[in-house]
Amino acid sequence: MKKDNKQKKNNVFKLWGGRFEHEPAEVVNRFTNSLLVDSRLALYDIQGSSAQAEGLLYAGVLDPSEYNRIKQGLHKIELEFKTKRFVFDERDEDIHTAIEKKLQQIIGDTASKLHTGRSRNDQVVTALRLYVLDEVRSIVAKLLDVQSALSSQASKYMGIPMPGFTHTQHAQPVLLSHHLLAYTEMFNRDIERLFHAYYAASVMPLGSGALAGTPYAVNREALAKLLKFKEISANSMDAVSDRDFVIDVVYSVSMLLMHFSRLSEEIVLWSTDEFGFVSLPDAFTTGSSIMPQKKNPDVAELTRGKTGRVYGSLVNLLTMMKGLPLAYDRDMQEDKPAVFDAVDTAKLVLEVWTPMIKGLSFNTNRLKESLFHGNLLATDIADYLVRRGMPFRKAHEVTGRIVLYAIKKGVDVASLGYETFKTFSPLIMPDIRHALDIKASINGRAVPGGTAEKQVRIALEKLEKKIKHYEGLLKKI
Ligand code: ARG
Repeated sequence: MKKDNKQKKNNVFKLWGGRFEHEPAEVVNRFTNSLLVDSRLALYDIQGSSAQAEGLLYAGVLDPSEYNRIKQGLHKIELEFKTKRFVFDERDEDIHTAIEKKLQQIIGDTASKLHTGRSRNDQVVTALRLYVLDEVRSIVAKLLDVQSALSSQASKYMGIPMPGFTHTQHAQPVLLSHHLLAYTEMFNRDIERLFHAYYAASVMPLGSGALAGTPYAVNREALAKLLKFKEISANSMDAVSDRDFVIDVVYSVSMLLMHFSRLSEEIVLWSTDEFGFVSLPDAFTTGSSIMPQKKNPDVAELTRGKTGRVYGSLVNLLTMMKGLPLAYDRDMQEDKPAVFDAVDTAKLVLEVWTPMIKGLSFNTNRLKESLFHGNLLATDIADYLVRRGMPFRKAHEVTGRIVLYAIKKGVDVASLGYETFKTFSPLIMPDIRHALDIKASINGRAVPGGTAEKQVRIALEKLEKKIKHYEGLLKKI
């Protein structure tokens, strides 16, 4: 058999080798191998190679029959991956090598023309960008399901008041729906960030070659269209060494998980006996091997825990990139485990939260009871005094004294009577009772963005519109 530069002495297929007198050490093969990790890019690699073949056809490098053979070969390999029949040879350096070897086995020498003017550097980043585009779309779609679940809970519990907290201490009454919609605001910003990451990834690198561009007359714009990229990369050196788009995704996902981690913390607290605000659906909790009474919020806890792992991926990528000279460096192979793990984690978190949110059952009696502890209406008393003409600082001071009195008596400030109030200020009239009403306190905060029911209903309507808008955008990109 004719020995070409790909068929080395020990018969391990490589995409390089001609200039070497000796094989790499076995441990170096193991050290540099990324097949198990990047095998999930298989279908994206094939997509990129199909476009590459088309580029070479129009550049006159491939004749139509060669082109057809390559296309058919790639199609066969694609089917093998889709039906999980592709047989991996763990000695192949990466998925790109494995696919080219397979193509060689199916169609013979024509396969070796496919890599004309291409480098693994532009090949790898093309596949990775296609992967990112798919996954970001899927993350946004799943996040929109979470948004819908939160929106229906906010609508179901509309009008139910609860204590709002600062420093985890009772602060002022708010609507439960207002609290839930605070999360949908965070998630809307996450969606915006993910769309930004999507557009950053939608840049076609093929034609950049190893770093300097390809000498063949490849129509890059046509390739971009074929692969559904928004635009082509502007600089070949940047194109093969840019991983900003990966970091954008992992950053967006880190922020998303940070938001879920906060929600998790609240679910953990709220489902304790001490709070008792919410009860989780059985199907989304776990028991204890020793304590028969336990119903644990493990999904929320694990979400909180997994957030650290996703941050780890972000720091991993930022640190991996910070010292790299242009253009491609092998360090960049380490981008894949980080982004795959972050994306997988985010998708799993989203999948488990949508049904869990739908199944949350809020204990409205318990929420009501807790409104009468912690002097939630103290600010309303100060605001009452302001309306009666007292400067706010003074009103704050006077109300503070009233609160201290209530604490010493062991009662909530809202239960004090007019006779008591008037001893603290002659400005206080019997109508103080109106200031001591939870609903009045909530509905008094009627500025846009406030917790008044009227405003919360507007916010909910806006959310529903936004979900539709994002769903439309997803269909278009
Ligand atoms: N597996 C490598 C990666 O994912 C392929 C690129 C190798 N390129 C090279 N010039 N050695 O980054």
